[in-house]
Amino acid sequence: MVPRQPYTSAVAVTVTHLSRHFGQLQAVRDVSFQVNAGEVFALLGPNGSGKTTLIRMLCGLLTPTSGQARVLGYDVTTDSEAIKARIGYMSQRFGLYEDLSVRENLDFYAGLYDVPRRGRRARIEALIAMAGLTGRERQLAGTLSGGWKQRLALACAIVHQPPLLFLDEPTAGVDPVSRRQFWGLIYSLAQQGTTILLTTHYLDEAEHAHRVALMYFGELVALDTPAALRAHGLHGTLLEIACDQPLAAVTHVQGLPGVQEAVLYGSVLHVIVAPGVAPETVAQALTAAGITGVSWRPIAPTLEDVFISLLSKPPAPARA
Ligand SMILES: Nc1ncnc2c1ncn2[C@@H]1O[C@H](COP(=O)(O)OP(=O)(O)OP(=O)(O)O)[C@@H](O)[C@H]1O
Ligand SMILES: [Mg+2]
Repeated sequence: MVPRQPYTSAVAVTVTHLSRHFGQLQAVRDVSFQVNAGEVFALLGPNGSGKTTLIRMLCGLLTPTSGQARVLGYDVTTDSEAIKARIGYMSQRFGLYEDLSVRENLDFYAGLYDVPRRGRRARIEALIAMAGLTGRERQLAGTLSGGWKQRLALACAIVHQPPLLFLDEPTAGVDPVSRRQFWGLIYSLAQQGTTILLTTHYLDEAEHAHRVALMYFGELVALDTPAALRAHGLHGTLLEIACDQPLAAVTHVQGLPGVQEAVLYGSVLHVIVAPGVAPETVAQALTAAGITGVSWRPIAPTLEDVFISLLSKPPAPARA
């Protein structure tokens, strides 16, 4: 049985120059960062950018090719069993037993994680209440809708009260109301002192995290609080441009020198111009091209603007 004394270090996860190759493919490349105890840390990145590979290394399920990582003070390469027993991990395809009921799934994971028999029943009752599954205890997991399944999966992953929780896309395919409820659970865990590292493709969710890391082709390309990323993550100026022919305008703007990115946001354009480029030159170029009613103003970027800008840079070669 794993001792249940709380983990008291200020740092829950330390990653140092961590890499993982699959043959020629560098899935995770020289990644370094720390996760502080009690933090909600979000990992973002396009499909295939290495998020799951990184999490699996941190959970002691996959050996790094090079570099080090310590999780709750344990080395991922030499102490993987100690890590597995102490953390909670909800994988991208979490293994709920579809032909077992809600309560039977929780019972199964309680046994797997060696939750003491004394107190186990009370723990499971508390988890059923926390996950809002009261009244569904006997329902087969396979018949739960997506949002309920995710909440049951979270409850199973924390049945042994781990101080550190890894959630790999816990809200994928879940409706906005259920996502909000799920985040309510995440916050209440964080308030009780649980450290949470999660991946998501939803930028509104990233805004709820204390810090956000962005991965791209296996590398960590940004790491900061959402506010700091919005304030400083964009290398250039974001302009909102209104005009009478937005579709024609966006095509034209994309080809202008000094324009890093131009996308249509409803009926207006969001245009990122390189540092030092005067916004008037973009507006003048549009007017000269026959676009009418052109007006512009600088606007504060959203996290989405920042990430799109960071991901529009060509990646370094992805092969070893
Ligand atoms: N066991 C494996 N063998 C070979 N290649 C792998 C293996 N696991 C992952 N990869 C490759 O490593 C790269 C990173 O995959 P990974 O699953 O970590 O990405 P991800 O960021 O989690 O993507 P997603 O957002 O789609 O979940 C991908 O190119 C993937 O095909
Ligand atoms: Mg993944």
